[in-house]
Amino acid sequence: MNTKFLGLSFFLFAFIATSFSEAVHTEDAAAVLDVFNHAVLAGARYFIEASSTDNTTTLAVTASGICNSDVILSTWNDRLNITFSPTIKSNDSVIREGTQLVVNFDAPSMVTTMWMIQLSPTTGGYVVTTGGVDRLNQFMITKSEDHDDLYQLSFCPMGEPFCTCPCVPVGVNGDKNLVPNADPLLVKFQRHEYGAQTI
Ligand SMILES: *[C@@H]1O[C@H](CO)[C@@H](O)[C@H](O)[C@H]1NC(C)=O
Ligand SMILES: *[C@@H]1O[C@H](CO)[C@@H](O)[C@H](O)[C@H]1NC(C)=O
Ligand SMILES: *[C@@H]1O[C@H](CO)[C@@H](O)[C@H](O)[C@H]1NC(C)=O
Repeated sequence: MNTKFLGLSFFLFAFIATSFSEAVHTEDAAAVLDVFNHAVLAGARYFIEASSTDNTTTLAVTASGICNSDVILSTWNDRLNITFSPTIKSNDSVIREGTQLVVNFDAPSMVTTMWMIQLSPTTGGYVVTTGGVDRLNQFMITKSEDHDDLYQLSFCPMGEPFCTCPCVPVGVNGDKNLVPNADPLLVKFQRHEYGAQTI
């Protein structure tokens, strides 16, 4: 066997190995993890717990009523199940950081469940509410820049064709409404099946 051939094989192998790992890397963003470090799954029910600095109250994301409800922060007792569905189907059902999602409440009593952004008739500002009926109401989950075990939600405007508008973080206003384009609310995901509870 001559050394030229060996050199070439090595070069080819290195090249293939590099492109393969790059391809895998770009395709698979990190899975979003719940509080028990299980991957968050599409369609499974989660409670969204707001991270808080005082240990006296645990706040959760819920709805303000049963019809066209606003999405609000309330006490842990008021929590509602929430599901995430990727807009681009993947082969596994893992929710990955930075992928576009549709968010729904999973509550039998609710008339409208899909999260959307709307101008609030009362405050005049945009709020996260329910009533979305199409796939224009996209959100994404990314890891907090400062806390490795916390996540933030963002709203991703998709209304305009060819719009490349950036996603904006979802925060909370003084009325405990979730609102787009605010200081990010930091959250954790708890799955009922794994014994979700105040932690
Ligand atoms: C919350 O609990 C943690 C751990 O139990 C403790 O270290 C921290 O000081 C508490 N914070 C407050 C504001 O009580
Ligand atoms: C959340 O969903 C689970 C089933 O996954 C159900 O048993 C539980 O009662 C629901 N909790 C609330 C608060 O809706
Ligand atoms: C998903 O599955 C299909 C058919 O089973 C396959 O052709 C495709 O390459 C898979 N995609 C990924 C990203 O694994």
